[in-house]
Amino acid sequence: MKVDVLLGLQWGDEGKGKIVDVLTPQYDIIARFQGGPNAGHTLEFDGIKHVLHIIPSGIFHSEKINIIGNGVLIEPVIFEKEITGLQRLGVSPTQNLKISNKSHLILPTHRLLDAAYEAAKGKAKVGSTLKGIGPTYTDKTARLGLRVGDTLTDSFEAKYHNLKTSHIRILDTYGFDWQEYLIDNMPFAEYEKKWLEAIRLLPSFDIIDSEYYLNDALKSGKKILAEGAQGSLLDIDFGSYPFVTSSNTVCAGVCSGLGIAPSKIGKVYGIFKAYCTRVGSGPFPTELIDADGEKLRTEGREFGSTTGRPRRCGWLDLPILKYSIMLNGVTDLIMMKADVLNSFETINICTEYAIEETVTEKIPYDLDAVEIQPLYEKIKGWNGNLNGITSYNNLPEAMKKYISTIEQMVEIPITMVSIGPDRTETIVK
Ligand code: GDP
Ligand code: IMO
Ligand code: MG
Repeated sequence: MKVDVLLGLQWGDEGKGKIVDVLTPQYDIIARFQGGPNAGHTLEFDGIKHVLHIIPSGIFHSEKINIIGNGVLIEPVIFEKEITGLQRLGVSPTQNLKISNKSHLILPTHRLLDAAYEAAKGKAKVGSTLKGIGPTYTDKTARLGLRVGDTLTDSFEAKYHNLKTSHIRILDTYGFDWQEYLIDNMPFAEYEKKWLEAIRLLPSFDIIDSEYYLNDALKSGKKILAEGAQGSLLDIDFGSYPFVTSSNTVCAGVCSGLGIAPSKIGKVYGIFKAYCTRVGSGPFPTELIDADGEKLRTEGREFGSTTGRPRRCGWLDLPILKYSIMLNGVTDLIMMKADVLNSFETINICTEYAIEETVTEKIPYDLDAVEIQPLYEKIKGWNGNLNGITSYNNLPEAMKKYISTIEQMVEIPITMVSIGPDRTETIVK
């Protein structure tokens, strides 16, 4: 067996959580391979709307195993809150959630460092979710980090205090008033106490060598789906650097974030919105700062699932989509939020960029350093409601034209179309 992968092709929030939940019945195991509580994956079904951050989106299916892989970062207080939220909905995650002993821990001081670095950048800030992602991956790479497996050893407290002390030294050099800064509305001392308590919850879960677990599962014929977080344009290597997250969000991240060999990757589902959004700072060639942009934000309820920030909105950008398809080896495309375009008379698709005297579909080294004029193909909108449509054939002709135009341009089939946030509002082609 091989590991199938589902990942975002734009700047995150494409609707990964919804589709993982929809696909989960076809799999035995759902595994997250990177990111952490910066992610916010929304699921809607049976009148429930739920946002997951660290926990994979297969968790509502009690008979399926969910794995937090070694590439994921865990923030114990946020994790505990997520567990409590699920238990309130009648889910028992202790039964079907396993955690890699090699997942790194986000310390309260990582969150302070995130805030200090962002403050120091001033106007050039990344617009981080302030969950401590950058500083924690930095410590991982610098070989200073603490892992979930460390919490099971006697030396954990000493290691924690050493790392915390070194962080405070850095915070002091930044002149950051860390004792006063509020982490989720709590001063550091109070938050740290909660964090040390929340650590004790971890052993209620199976803490495993997830690389062995997953490879053994493959050998015994189990089906695995890897769930991406963020999107390819937020990838640390290929995203719009430095306005990116700190992990490899592309398909290669599955190999390092779960211990899966490249030859064991199967289907790659690439998921994209029928338009584009971005939350946080950084370049966005097709961004609309006009009435159409506002309309996309209102119709699409484009406000962050993790931070509540308004998302920036714009037209679909094919150079970006093609770049992401190339980087990930996408085999199947899934188009999300088509219903948000219901009332547009005309829909634009950016097919190429005009940069100075040239026309290109390649992404320039620094999107911010050049003047980009997106070149658009205009498509007639379908101007109608999609409520109750369950089969591809019954979609409006103009919408089918929109879909086939994209398919022809990117040369990958769109195998699923999402026309609403609920599980049931998904059309398989
Ligand atoms: P993720 O991070 O990729 O899982 O995406 P988010 O959950 O952050 O953002 C997607 C948002 O769009 C959520 O509020 C979903 O409930 C919603 N959503 C997903 N699919 C659709 C759809 O087809 N139509 C509409 N209108 N909303 C959708
Ligand atoms: P999901 O999985 C959208 C953005 C932040 C910021 C940049 C760096 O829900 O699609 P970080 O906290 O990682 O240091 O932030 O990346 N960002 C996301 N944007 N969806 C996400 O996750 C994101 N995770 C991080 O807004 O611009
Ligand atoms: Mg999200």
